[in-house]
Amino acid sequence: MAIPLVAVILAAGDSTRMNSKTPKVLHSLAGQPMIEYALQNAEALSPSRIYAVVGAQSREVSAYLGQRAVPVLQKKRMGTGHAVAQILPQLKSFKGNLLVLYADACLVRPQTVLALRQFHLLQGAAATLLTARVDSPFGYGRIVRGKEGEVEKIVEETQAGEEERRINEINAGVYCFKAQALAQALVWLKVAQAREEFYLTGVIPPILARGGKVHALMVPDRTEVLGVNNRNQLAQAHRLWNLRRVEDCQRGGVTFLNPKTVEVGPKVSIGRDTVVEGNVKLSGTTDIREDCRIESGSVIESSQLGRGVVVRASRIMESRLAEGCDAGPFAHVRGGCDLARGVHVGTNTELKHARIGAGSKVGHFSYVGDAVLGRDVNVGAGCVFANFDGRNKHECRVGNKVFLGSNSTLVAPVQIGKGAVIGAGAVVTKDVPAKTVVAGVPAKPFKKK
Ligand code: UD1
Ligand code: MG
Repeated sequence: MAIPLVAVILAAGDSTRMNSKTPKVLHSLAGQPMIEYALQNAEALSPSRIYAVVGAQSREVSAYLGQRAVPVLQKKRMGTGHAVAQILPQLKSFKGNLLVLYADACLVRPQTVLALRQFHLLQGAAATLLTARVDSPFGYGRIVRGKEGEVEKIVEETQAGEEERRINEINAGVYCFKAQALAQALVWLKVAQAREEFYLTGVIPPILARGGKVHALMVPDRTEVLGVNNRNQLAQAHRLWNLRRVEDCQRGGVTFLNPKTVEVGPKVSIGRDTVVEGNVKLSGTTDIREDCRIESGSVIESSQLGRGVVVRASRIMESRLAEGCDAGPFAHVRGGCDLARGVHVGTNTELKHARIGAGSKVGHFSYVGDAVLGRDVNVGAGCVFANFDGRNKHECRVGNKVFLGSNSTLVAPVQIGKGAVIGAGAVVTKDVPAKTVVAGVPAKPFKKK
């Protein structure tokens, strides 16, 4: 029978080193709150329950956790050992294993946590910790090993002697424990260390003293163990996360011309042979298909781009651009736009909540808001869809093959019938029937002399 597993995420830390009003674990890392990564790591092991120890701003953190974890309040922040001790009353008769994750260990991969549990079970250990060798161990707990290489204890920076400080194998903040062994060790620790704080890392010697086996799994990728305690580490974590995402995409056949300057969010997918230039940000749930070109200075958020779309230094938000569309430079497409195949959006054009039919062109300096345009419509330079009357927004409808002359204004709500022509500079305040030519202010049907 499988040994039951419960997980606990330690997230009660305040934001002292972050110097922030926001709880540390809610700071955004690569577009997601830091605690999201620990949650996903815990969920990867399908434990019967996930607890999260929360602190001073518990309401905000609990709101984020929703149904995914049971919040347990740590009223006073008294160290990681004290934090874990908060859930012990809930585990009195629990005979399984406890996975402990620090919420600021955001770069640990789910497969590493899976491997840790596997190793823990295989060794029949009472405690298994995740470690790594790093270049700068400053600030981390050091792993002190005995003559046979066995783990003896973890020494925190503040308590380490000169020799111990030189140890470069560090504690990552991810552990598997036999719950009962941990509970006993924590009780002992609390009594022995009658201090303001007591550390989870102190449980190793009492577990060993009671005959429990302690093992360490060393993760080869040292970038996984970065703990995010301050803004500098947050920036490092962000950079490392991006690099990982970029490498994933590169394996999937995407070209990045200047990968260090690109941000690729965790829910972004990019198709083969798409080229992403430098200084580009891709975020939200975004799907970019094959053979696209995302040029420098573009921001694409929560959008879908079909095959072969070209975006030049533009901002695409919550919109869909079908195959062969192109946008920019300096276009702003937002608010649920839906562009059919081959739509051209040119320089300095803003589209908001616009549905545009295949092959239509909005070339230069235009605003198209709250509108439905048919196929092969030409929107001349500087056209404005005046959708707001000061109180309400209204919609315009423009039929297939309509030609809007430069600098014309549609005062919504109006409908332009298919094939109509609007003269340059016209201000359209009334519906225009199909195949009619109108011009002037206000626009009237054009009479031939
Ligand atoms: C901790 C470890 C250190 C390890 C490092 C890895 C201890 C004593 N030290 O140091 O060995 O190398 O992480 O990044 O465990 N927390 C609470 N309640 C508390 C204190 C902390 O919930 O009373 C939570 C924090 O929100 C955080 C986690 O526990 O998510 C770790 O605490 P933190 O203060 O970041 O410990 P470090 O100094 O980084
Ligand atoms: Mg930390």
